[in-house]
Amino acid sequence: MASWRTRGRMSSQVWKSTHISGSSLGSHSPNQLRMSSSAAVASESEIVAAQKNYKVVQDAGNFNEIQAARPDFNHSTSIEVTKSPNPNWNYGDGIPENGASLAQEHYEIDPYAPDRPMIHNYRLLVSGIAPRPVGFLSTVNSKGEKNLSPFSYFQVIDHDPPMFIVGFSSRPGHVKDTYHNLKETGECVINTVSENMTEAVNAASIDAPYGVSEWDVSGLHEAPSSTVKPARVAESVFNIEGKVIDIKEFTDHQKPGMSLAATVLIKATRFWVKEGASDAEFSHIDLEKLRPIGQLGGMSYGRISSTFEHPRKRWSEEVQQSETLSRLDAWKGGDS
Ligand SMILES: Cc1cc2nc3c(=O)[nH]c(=O)nc-3n(C[C@H](O)[C@H](O)[C@H](O)COP(=O)(O)O)c2cc1C
Repeated sequence: MASWRTRGRMSSQVWKSTHISGSSLGSHSPNQLRMSSSAAVASESEIVAAQKNYKVVQDAGNFNEIQAARPDFNHSTSIEVTKSPNPNWNYGDGIPENGASLAQEHYEIDPYAPDRPMIHNYRLLVSGIAPRPVGFLSTVNSKGEKNLSPFSYFQVIDHDPPMFIVGFSSRPGHVKDTYHNLKETGECVINTVSENMTEAVNAASIDAPYGVSEWDVSGLHEAPSSTVKPARVAESVFNIEGKVIDIKEFTDHQKPGMSLAATVLIKATRFWVKEGASDAEFSHIDLEKLRPIGQLGGMSYGRISSTFEHPRKRWSEEVQQSETLSRLDAWKGGDS
């Protein structure tokens, strides 16, 4: 029988956060977002040293050769709907495979161990927490200069109010331009990324000098927004205009020569859905039209070509039909 080690070890790391006051949208001006940061200013030599250890952007070797040997992307693949993996599953069954997945134990890893390189955490997390949706953020700085970059430390985290989160990693030198702009102006458009956009979106992740517009690098087109200054990506199926309502900067974690890491909470101010991509009520986006990509580990992206469904159940109805649930129902309150 395999054993688990599930110790809930707290890291000694204390994450101090900088809050922006105001829980409701528009309760602060962009100036309030210009937080005083206690982040250390890195020297040139520190940045050069940090750059030597920064291996997040992987050397792809002879990628063109590898790519040439692969089958073509099938643009006409439609999305197949199959049965779920175990349609005969019953309450209490766990994984119906005779405990095979319990045969291996887990290794415990301290992400902050002094001899553990940061890049190991990066590679472990992006390969282990996958697929991740890609939020393609359009921002402008206070001078109106435009930026467009992809982020997969990204998620919708609620619908009422519609809220999103984006994580900005530290890098040698200065903070990500998108983060700089969000902090300075408090506005963005989150654009969805469909399969046909991947080359353009990936190109927009290039470390262009501050002030260079990735709109030009990607060749994607601007469409006007209603409630924020940054433009929407016309090619995206779904655009969300949004305003920053909170920022957390991980100042305690900042390393010499590296910029701050931060997470930003964004509240939606407007939705835009592409013609023909939703139902008449704008309450559902057609997956065949959205064709979302997910970011995986390393340099990999995934597409959705097969789905299955699971209706969500109600205890009051299920308890009458399941022996396991009716036994649990009888035990609730601790009696056995
Ligand atoms: C698909 C994809 C997802 C990415 N996700 C993130 C992310 O979540 N956080 C981050 O800091 N950088 C992420 N990056 C890297 C940024 O896009 C990259 O650093 C970019 O140059 C930042 O642009 P900016 O400095 O103009 O904001 C991602 C890159 C790609 C291609």
